[in-house]
Amino acid sequence: MSATGGGAAAAAPRPVPRIGLGTAVQGPKPDPVRRAVLRAIELGYRHFDTAAHYATEAPIGEAVADAVRAGSIASRDEVFITSKVWCADAHRDRVLPALRRTLSNLQMEYVDLYLVHWPVTMKAGRYSAPFTEEDFELFDMRAVWEAMEECHRLGLAKAIGVCNFSCKKLETLLSFATIPPTVNQVEINPVWQQRNLREFCRDKDIQLMAYSPLGAKGTHWGSDSVMDSGVLHEIAKAKGKSVCLRWVYEQGDCLIVKSFDETRMKENLDIVDWELTEEDRQRISKIPQRKINQGRRYITEHGQYKSLEELWDGEI
Ligand SMILES: NC(=O)c1ccc[n+]([C@@H]2O[C@H](COP(=O)([O-])OP(=O)(O)OC[C@H]3O[C@@H](n4cnc5c(N)ncnc54)[C@H](OP(=O)(O)O)[C@@H]3O)[C@@H](O)[C@H]2O)c1
Repeated sequence: MSATGGGAAAAAPRPVPRIGLGTAVQGPKPDPVRRAVLRAIELGYRHFDTAAHYATEAPIGEAVADAVRAGSIASRDEVFITSKVWCADAHRDRVLPALRRTLSNLQMEYVDLYLVHWPVTMKAGRYSAPFTEEDFELFDMRAVWEAMEECHRLGLAKAIGVCNFSCKKLETLLSFATIPPTVNQVEINPVWQQRNLREFCRDKDIQLMAYSPLGAKGTHWGSDSVMDSGVLHEIAKAKGKSVCLRWVYEQGDCLIVKSFDETRMKENLDIVDWELTEEDRQRISKIPQRKINQGRRYITEHGQYKSLEELWDGEI
């Protein structure tokens, strides 16, 4: 067994860890990501979220191998790795080769969870923005999902799921899936609480996984509206803790939060053994709702999604 391998047969599927470290970062990647992930493992993070599109798979794999060598973990099997197939590989015959590339980047024999990154298909080879109308093709959900199921059957993905799916798209997927999605990874934070989607997913036994739980302040897809919310500031000041993350946790969702700063990485783990008060919850429930990461770059004049309404099936 290799240091980071473990063997596909050795690791059984397991519950998704409730807290994970995000790795969607702008700017220089390999060294900062490798250092941050290694430190995160030492601090107790066991779930790492990546994607072919983030170009952070290789440094995560290196950090896990470093952690095994340093003895922080006994083997790769002690961490939970989520990765995602990018839109340019959301074609029936491109999903499995894309996963094999992901595994090669990670230097691993399996991912714990493999997700469809967006309900969007682009022409092969279109990896980086800006995207133009000509880059898009029709997203064939059935073809993509059958390829995802094959990844699971081969033992290369212990679980499979989707991202950025509305209730309507999940309903369609469930109507033909042989293997139902384990997870729907979507934006969730106090400014975009996703009450209907949560109810739907609970009913269908799909685990919601929150991305941008802090609103992704400082990124090109994020906004200040969560971190600068007056209500959240007041509650956080009284508690001295991360109210946003605790709120997501209390909803029963898994969450992925990105910080490469050691103090904030520790702070973001400190959400388990305390609670918001009923009054806090009531105040948070009244925060005006607005989706931050709307996916505007997937809207085209003549393509599959001509409006945000169409992309999100009116659930925006
Ligand atoms: N499936 C999808 O389509 C999708 C879309 C977006 C994101 N994601 C995943 O979800 C992960 C998390 O979401 P995100 O990165 O968009 O946003 P996020 O985790 O809500 O916010 C990240 C930002 O908040 C800062 N931060 C983190 N902890 C903090 C704290 N305790 N106090 C103050 N600032 C703090 C970080 O800066 P520092 O690093 O300087 O602390 C960073 O600028 C991503 O990295 C990615 O893995 C998935």
